[in-house]
Amino acid sequence: MKRLTALAALLLGGVACGSPSAPDTVPNASSTGGVAGTGAGGGGAAGTGGSVGAAGAGGIEPAPSWANLPKVMTPDVELGILPSREMQYDRLCAMPRNDAFFQRICGAVRPNIPDLVGLLRLVGLEQDRAFALTGNSTSLVAKSVSALNPRVIVFPRVAPTLEQKDDFVIVSFVRGEPFAEVTSRDPVSGEPNFYLFTFERACDYQGTCDLASRLTEELEHDWTAYSIYPESDLENTSVDCLTCHRPGGFGTKKILRMQELASPWLHWFPQRFVQRTDSDRVLTAQFVDVHGVDEQYGGVPVSTIQNALDDGSGAQLEALLRAQGFGEQPNAFDPRIEAEAKASEQSATWLAQWTLATQGKAITVPYPKVDVTDEAKRLAASASYKSVVTGASGRETLLDLRDVFSLDATEKLSFVPQPGADGRAVLVQMCARCHDGRADPAIGRSHFNVLKLDEMSADEKAIAVERIQEPQGSVKHMPPWRSGVLTPEAITAAVAELAK
Ligand code: HEC
Ligand code: HEC
Repeated sequence: MKRLTALAALLLGGVACGSPSAPDTVPNASSTGGVAGTGAGGGGAAGTGGSVGAAGAGGIEPAPSWANLPKVMTPDVELGILPSREMQYDRLCAMPRNDAFFQRICGAVRPNIPDLVGLLRLVGLEQDRAFALTGNSTSLVAKSVSALNPRVIVFPRVAPTLEQKDDFVIVSFVRGEPFAEVTSRDPVSGEPNFYLFTFERACDYQGTCDLASRLTEELEHDWTAYSIYPESDLENTSVDCLTCHRPGGFGTKKILRMQELASPWLHWFPQRFVQRTDSDRVLTAQFVDVHGVDEQYGGVPVSTIQNALDDGSGAQLEALLRAQGFGEQPNAFDPRIEAEAKASEQSATWLAQWTLATQGKAITVPYPKVDVTDEAKRLAASASYKSVVTGASGRETLLDLRDVFSLDATEKLSFVPQPGADGRAVLVQMCARCHDGRADPAIGRSHFNVLKLDEMSADEKAIAVERIQEPQGSVKHMPPWRSGVLTPEAITAAVAELAK
């Protein structure tokens, strides 16, 4: 039945609802040939969507040598110790991989990728594509994501028949991070492969990458070099893709993820369906209010996002996941939560799912309501952004667009432990995602399994105490900053538990 919901939405999606513009003003309509007017008729073009040969038919431009580029002044503490640039390129391309992304990157030349649009073009996602933005993520970049700074996922369009594509490339991006996340299906293993695509910019060499350079459109342009890490290189880092994309643990299959897989796709936008969703009404409006001053966001023209018909929506991503066989999601967000959370203070269904997550049995569950922001913070950040981008205020005045979460969202998304939790509960909630015994037993972090505290050696517990007490910003500090922070009370409680 869920399959029908997705299909119905896709088919209906072609009928614009409340869209102020006529279809022929949709900016990318002419280039994609089939988005406007025809709705589901776009399926004709979708047949070629997965083909990486579609873009750049004239050949790929080679990248210049990166050998003489200066050093990055403040590299990411963990990624900075991995090889980079040409050296990493050669390591990657020596690997036995067959997915479409790998083939594009490791073809006859080392491709030039000067910006985000260049990356999308290289992998065939500039045309005949779909996209979805989310205003609440439970992924690696969760703490950066709201409708003000959404996560964008760009992917091939799926035919209305939900035909599986032999190869696909999906690119995901959020501002604030010097990387894009990529996945691509390996036709031999049938599984998605994951890649972290990091890029450098001139400001990295002078140590002048300020907040404005990371949160405005500047981040999407003028890349000077890149380094690409396959998931196997990241396994013992805090950006390990497999902690979430291989939920069964070491030795099991990798999956694509989307917790809000089914209607109403509470945090996904834009969605111009016959029945307009809350996410479209609230989140698209918040997004456009901030980024109406930009040309593009996440490599997609802002006008395209604003006027999207069926090419932009959570329903499209749902269709892709189902077509690829990932319709069964662990701890999927129950669609009943939306109505329950509106009717009463607490949705019982959500609470049950959240409890599973706090017990280390699943990753965090999305926020029960549509908007994760605190209104005062959101309005201030939004005004600041517009003022800086239009030149009315100096760039140094920019407020951090990521620092807009309400206290309730911060707690419900497990960015901080549950208030008043005892030491064991703190450790399980805040550490289990990476320390639950599912990782490769051979790697360092497997020594610390927070679900087996009773069997843990005193030595290992002592290491954990040290790691919790390391200063923020140190590579040794636990938990890693992208996943959350411990309050002072939580540190006291966790340390007391580990001293037992
Ligand atoms: C903390 C869990 C987590 C980690 C770690 C993680 N992801 Fe994801 N990823 C998700 C979730 C959840 C989604 C669904 C969208 C969302 O909530 O943002 C997702 C979505 C994606 C997508 C869009 C396609 C899809 O599966 O829906 C890509 C591409 C992706 N992740 C790549 C990566 C890569 C590459 C890494 C490692 C560098 C990574 N992810 C690490 C949780 C994670
Ligand atoms: C986002 C993933 C992630 C989370 C969440 C996380 N860690 Fe880690 N942890 C790692 C990684 C990766 C390593 C291995 C690399 C290293 O030692 O820094 C590690 C290493 C450790 C080690 C050293 C294990 C050993 O014997 O070598 C300890 C102890 C530890 N973490 C404790 C914690 C505690 C306590 C928490 C929760 C408060 C926590 N971690 C949360 C990713 C994580």
